[in-house]
Amino acid sequence: MNTADPRPEQVGRPRRVTILGSTGSVGQSTVDLLLRNPEDFVVEALTANRNATLLAKQARMLRARFAAIADPAQYPALREALAGSGIAAASGAAALAEAAERPAEWVMAAIVGAAGLAPTLAAVRRGAIVAFANKEVLVCAGALFMQEVARCGATLLPVDSEHNAIWQCFDRSQREAIERVILTASGGPFRERSLEEMRDVTPQQAVAHPNWNMGAKISVDSATMMNKGLEVIEAHHLFQLPLERVEIVVHPQSIVHSAVVYNDGSVLAQLGSPDMRTPIAYALAWPRRIGAPTKRFDLAAIGRLTFEPPDERRFPALRVAREALVNGGGYPTALNAANEVAVHAFLAGRIGFLDIVATVERTLAAISPDRLESLDDVYTFDAAARELAGRMIGGRTAPGAATADVT
Ligand SMILES: NC(=O)c1ccc[n+]([C@@H]2O[C@H](COP(=O)([O-])OP(=O)(O)OC[C@H]3O[C@@H](n4cnc5c(N)ncnc54)[C@H](OP(=O)(O)O)[C@@H]3O)[C@@H](O)[C@H]2O)c1
Repeated sequence: MNTADPRPEQVGRPRRVTILGSTGSVGQSTVDLLLRNPEDFVVEALTANRNATLLAKQARMLRARFAAIADPAQYPALREALAGSGIAAASGAAALAEAAERPAEWVMAAIVGAAGLAPTLAAVRRGAIVAFANKEVLVCAGALFMQEVARCGATLLPVDSEHNAIWQCFDRSQREAIERVILTASGGPFRERSLEEMRDVTPQQAVAHPNWNMGAKISVDSATMMNKGLEVIEAHHLFQLPLERVEIVVHPQSIVHSAVVYNDGSVLAQLGSPDMRTPIAYALAWPRRIGAPTKRFDLAAIGRLTFEPPDERRFPALRVAREALVNGGGYPTALNAANEVAVHAFLAGRIGFLDIVATVERTLAAISPDRLESLDDVYTFDAAARELAGRMIGGRTAPGAATADVT
């Protein structure tokens, strides 16, 4: 992880920021913090996929310079909603890349899925500080993405609550003393359900996470526990740790966000209410801290924190994700792409809940993405896995594929 000390000129003046995916759950939490700290931040650009109304509202509230919408069909609505504001608007893949390329020193990567790869890379390539929520980017492009971060002198700040917790506890100067990291998992809404009971769960039940209020895709990933599988891969790359040094423990209260285990037996953990504004605030003001209006918790009132091992029989996604990482090459790329297609199909009512991970597993068994040598390979394997998973499901593939750079 490249979390070098900030350049001196970056400290003590308003930080210029851009949010990729400002209309989503992480994006809206970031906007909330920006509105609460108008002295500390100025906004360069915001992006959305289709929600022109919210994007325009955010751009006006934050006095952004530029608003980009991915779907060209929504461009007229965006332009109309921004009329007279002086805020520039554009649409399509090139507009998203432009948003990322504009001169903001800090960029929040909060698009969902591999669709975030090209714009996130555009921010990385100009050496920006990238607050990193969009885990699918790291799963699909892995070491190649990390190489670009290093090559371009960009800085990645983990925003995913578990990785942010590890970052807060990970003493880089004592790296050799770190034995392993522990990723906590809530276990999702079906933690106590049998496989039989999970067979018929609905999308509404799957997105109703017991602790976190999140976008639909990550909520379903939490329910299958594929989210934790993706996070193991994310932790492997962010903290440069081998798989066997990334442990998962189920912690239903979502209070301990993750921990780092040192060789003297110390375990450093970060605790807090389950509210993404804490990790976002930590990344937003880094290396300072700013306030976040989260619920203050009372340890005595919480009373009990519990931990249990994950059940890989009922939640095979953990095994499937781990195997993809061990197989290497483009397997994680294909894992992510097939999962995106399957989750989309589940949310659309086209497959059952248990079919999600089954589709991913069958896709990985049917292709051989053995080597991943270039970003072109990423786009090739991503597309191939989407096509295959879509055919297995028996319909059109889901939108949101990783698209090649437009720059
Ligand atoms: N939500 C959480 O608490 C949380 C926690 C940790 C990590 N994360 C990660 O953060 C990322 C965002 O999650 P989220 O829950 O905020 O998702 P979300 O609520 O679904 O929002 C996704 C954002 O991406 C935009 N978007 C969707 N598809 C796009 C496409 N094809 N091209 C360009 N933009 C697109 C959406 O625009 P529209 O609004 O116009 O659709 C929206 O702004 C995910 O990778 C997730 O795993 C989320």
